[in-house]
Amino acid sequence: MKILFDETNLLASMVGEAHGVTPAEYKAQMRRGPEVVKAFRKLVDRGEVGFPSLPFQTDALKQIQAYARKVRGSYDTVCVLGIGGSALGAWALDCALRGPHPVQKPFSRKNPRLVILDNVDPALVGAALEVMDPGKTLVLAVTKQGGTAETVAALLVVREWLGKRAPRQSVAITTPGRGDLYALALREKWPIFAIPENVGGRFSVLSAVGLLPAALIGLDVGKLLRGAAAMTEQCWQTDPRRNPALRAALLHHLIWTAKSKTIHVAFPYSNRLWGTAFWFRQLWAESLGKSKTRAGENVHIGQTPVAALGTTDQHSQVQLYVEGPNDKVFSFWAVEKQGWEGRIPKTRYKLDSFDYLAGRKLAELLEVERLSTEAALTEAGRPNCTYTLERLDEEHLGGFLQLLEFQTAFIAELLDVNAFDQPGVEAGKRFTYGLMGRPGFEEYRERFEQYQKRRRQAI
Ligand code: PA5
Repeated sequence: MKILFDETNLLASMVGEAHGVTPAEYKAQMRRGPEVVKAFRKLVDRGEVGFPSLPFQTDALKQIQAYARKVRGSYDTVCVLGIGGSALGAWALDCALRGPHPVQKPFSRKNPRLVILDNVDPALVGAALEVMDPGKTLVLAVTKQGGTAETVAALLVVREWLGKRAPRQSVAITTPGRGDLYALALREKWPIFAIPENVGGRFSVLSAVGLLPAALIGLDVGKLLRGAAAMTEQCWQTDPRRNPALRAALLHHLIWTAKSKTIHVAFPYSNRLWGTAFWFRQLWAESLGKSKTRAGENVHIGQTPVAALGTTDQHSQVQLYVEGPNDKVFSFWAVEKQGWEGRIPKTRYKLDSFDYLAGRKLAELLEVERLSTEAALTEAGRPNCTYTLERLDEEHLGGFLQLLEFQTAFIAELLDVNAFDQPGVEAGKRFTYGLMGRPGFEEYRERFEQYQKRRRQAI
């Protein structure tokens, strides 16, 4: 597995001192590496954070693989009901390893379709119920807390659609012993796959949350974990030169806090990494957008993650990126070796804007366009860096996801914030429960009424 992090264009010598890292800043920041790794290691050793251990959980892997083998061929659709961290990982894996959704191979019992209902928009749910066949659909209900309103509501609708088949064709992925999904699954004897208590939603892609749907659609989850395990070994190195996640975290932290880059653009030049960009957006936003440090100091800190797709967004966003406010850092994601390189026919048309492309490859054009955007941004003094995956297979993807999770955890250490809670998300959930009449959340209904009163008085 080869995943490289290239920071050259984050340096002051490339983008100027106001926007890039000077040699003195670089040296001082790299010296913080060992202390950051040790601080995070303590959290893991105390059992507070579980994602670094996921690649080594052989029993969970065996259970997932055995179940996938058992049901293979029985379904042509795997329908995931989940939201946020309970859905984005599955999308990232499917999109990267089987191709972007609109252009995947035809679906069959051998190659089941993955439908992810991660919204309660009736248009999405209704359309899904029309295209799926209840006799050939396996439903995975995924919720760590076990009672998230959107997931439960979708489950209730899908259960009615499944009819009598519901108990046989449902699987729960949840925290054992906690929450109502677990209670229902026990009552109806569904298979239950555990989300470890110390693994939060956005860090759960390599638990059953991502692995079970991946195994059911035929991906090699063993290889995915092998890549993640190899990357985990690298991520525990205290020398930033040997640890891409640590080096990237140290530099992103410096560019963000000392050079005021409050927006982070994840810029894959790969449609297959588009799902991963959305997964990353949640990881970065929810883990690092915090009101307080761990010591309780008010900071209201965060770096807004944006997903942009190369080359598509060159014709949509890059004008802003090159000439607009210099408040962003760009993370290019490149894939060195494409499976099919897309040879362009050699036919000549005696037309200048056609003939220079004859006999070239789409993969070459994609890479040249990335390098051109990188050059244009650098010339304009916009700091950017590149993560290169040698190829996009299970092993590299597993390694890359793990790198991004470690990078997030390390930067949280530098900021002294808790990357593993999400009080802002929970606040929204509680208002919804209160307004929808869930017992125990009456206080939020009253708070909402107060809020509406203020709105009426404001007009
Ligand atoms: O990362 C997180 O913790 C959140 O985004 C959750 O994944 C999301 O809110 C869904 O929660 P749950 O899995 O408990 O239904």
